[in-house]
Amino acid sequence: MARLNINGKNYDVDVEPETPLLWAIRENVGLTGTKYGCGIAQCGACTVLVNGVAIRSCSFTVANAVGKQITTIEGLAPNNVLSKVQKAWLEHDVPQCGYCQSGMIMAVTALLRTNPKPNDADINAAITNICRCGTFQQVRAAIHAATNM
Ligand code: FES
Ligand code: FES
Repeated sequence: MARLNINGKNYDVDVEPETPLLWAIRENVGLTGTKYGCGIAQCGACTVLVNGVAIRSCSFTVANAVGKQITTIEGLAPNNVLSKVQKAWLEHDVPQCGYCQSGMIMAVTALLRTNPKPNDADINAAITNICRCGTFQQVRAAIHAATNM
């Protein structure tokens, strides 16, 4: 049994300590906005925040997450107030199929917390999430828009 704090709420999950956090979030807690893509920390679809830092939850154990503040896409708009990143995403019509987008938004959220005005090189270095629909140009435009809100 492990106690996870996700989006400000505690959840007791009955999993092995080495279970990937992604599966506890999706299967035990039932928050399915966080997606499974590659399972090997390459695509970023599973990105969540742990103590404000973007991590790839397919490759991060439940044991590592205990005692920390986990934020998923479901926790980004408390009281239904969208974050700047979410607003910019809507204004720029970023998502296509949408599968990669929650991970993308979480990664960008973490980037803007440490670097509120990233340039293109910063974005290239920090946002390595893969989008099979090729939304990269819209992602970049939306990131720059979010920094000006
Ligand atoms: S599913 Fe975790 S990085 Fe691809
Ligand atoms: S929007 Fe389809 S994979 Fe990114």
